[in-house]
Amino acid sequence: MDVTRERAWETLTRYTKSESLLRHALAVEASTRFYARTWGEDEERWAAVALLHDFDYEVHPTLDKHPQDGAAFLREEGWPEDVIESVLSHAEHLALPRDTQLKKTLFACDELSGFVHACGLVRPSGLDGLEPKSVRKKLKQPSFAAGVHRDEVYQGAELLELDLDEHIANVVAALQPIAKELGLRTAADI
Ligand SMILES: [Fe+2]
Ligand SMILES: [Fe+2]
Repeated sequence: MDVTRERAWETLTRYTKSESLLRHALAVEASTRFYARTWGEDEERWAAVALLHDFDYEVHPTLDKHPQDGAAFLREEGWPEDVIESVLSHAEHLALPRDTQLKKTLFACDELSGFVHACGLVRPSGLDGLEPKSVRKKLKQPSFAAGVHRDEVYQGAELLELDLDEHIANVVAALQPIAKELGLRTAADI
């Protein structure tokens, strides 16, 4: 089958109805795409993997099932094994090797996209003017976006061999164009 963003969106929305999960998928897609574009990688495939990474979370909200039990659904739908393997690799508890740049990038963008999104939601101007420094400060406040695993954010930047500030700035830049879809205000709304 052709691996396209459109097909991934179809699969995702067949299993996922929650707005916040769909927004998470869009945020991770935008960040992953940003890096695919920067490095001249296969943007369509990377976007598809990013959209699919939590596709079964609504059906399998616990780690004894997510994402490993979702793999069977993806296989049934004809998704190629490398896509499935990449999707599975984001899960820390499966301890699969992150041996491709796509797997590394997906992992590095997953938690940080959620965190940057959360930072944008509490600011009147959303992501506009959001500096890496203030994101880093919020990372040190355990009560803010408490569900985001800080260690995975730091580990992700290391995996990409990027300075954390640079990685944060990239994710902010990646999410800005889809601020509306993410339910974020912009400087123009103030
Ligand atoms: Fe996940
Ligand atoms: Fe995720």
